[in-house]
Amino acid sequence: MSVNTIALNRQMRHFDDHASVWLFGYGSIIFKADFPYLERRPAHIRGWARRFWQGSHDHRGTPEAPGRVVTLIAQEGAVCAGMAYLITPEVFAHLDHREKNGYLRLATPMFFEDGQQTEGLIYIAAEDNQAFVGPASESDIARQIAHAVGPSGRNSEYLLKLAQALRDLEVDDDHVFAIERHLLQLDPQAAMLSSARRA
Ligand code: BEZ
Repeated sequence: MSVNTIALNRQMRHFDDHASVWLFGYGSIIFKADFPYLERRPAHIRGWARRFWQGSHDHRGTPEAPGRVVTLIAQEGAVCAGMAYLITPEVFAHLDHREKNGYLRLATPMFFEDGQQTEGLIYIAAEDNQAFVGPASESDIARQIAHAVGPSGRNSEYLLKLAQALRDLEVDDDHVFAIERHLLQLDPQAAMLSSARRA
């Protein structure tokens, strides 16, 4: 099921008078920055946990066999590390289209690794969006991911690229790495396919 959030995101005027805005990426934006940016820096946000709880019917799956991608779940004390990009407001038109299946922009504080802090934006797929699929065991999530393929490619490729990008950032994420371990048991060739496509 798809919900098109482009029109809702266009109404978000929070940073309208800013020449540039920080965007915090916690999912594919970490490993697929297909947009121009002025600067990028590792960063984290507080009070949010990264979870494979959003269905993907349009990118990494189909309506018949949806995949799973990450969203953020509010959780006291949680820290979610990722990559922040300084972008100009025009870039949001591209991102709103890319993340149109349930993701809404939300302003939030973000923290750089040198202790500096700023306010920026995240894209979040909240629990009330129609593509939200919610919790499942990490082995069941891996099984669903192993079987899903969509217009943007295999769901397993998304998972493996995210896990590798987090390792490159020296970020520990129990949820993502547990799903990755299960996936590699189910499909040992997935890692080879993913790295072959990267080469
Ligand atoms: C992210 O990397 O932050 C992201 C990617 C896709 C949808 C929403 C957020």
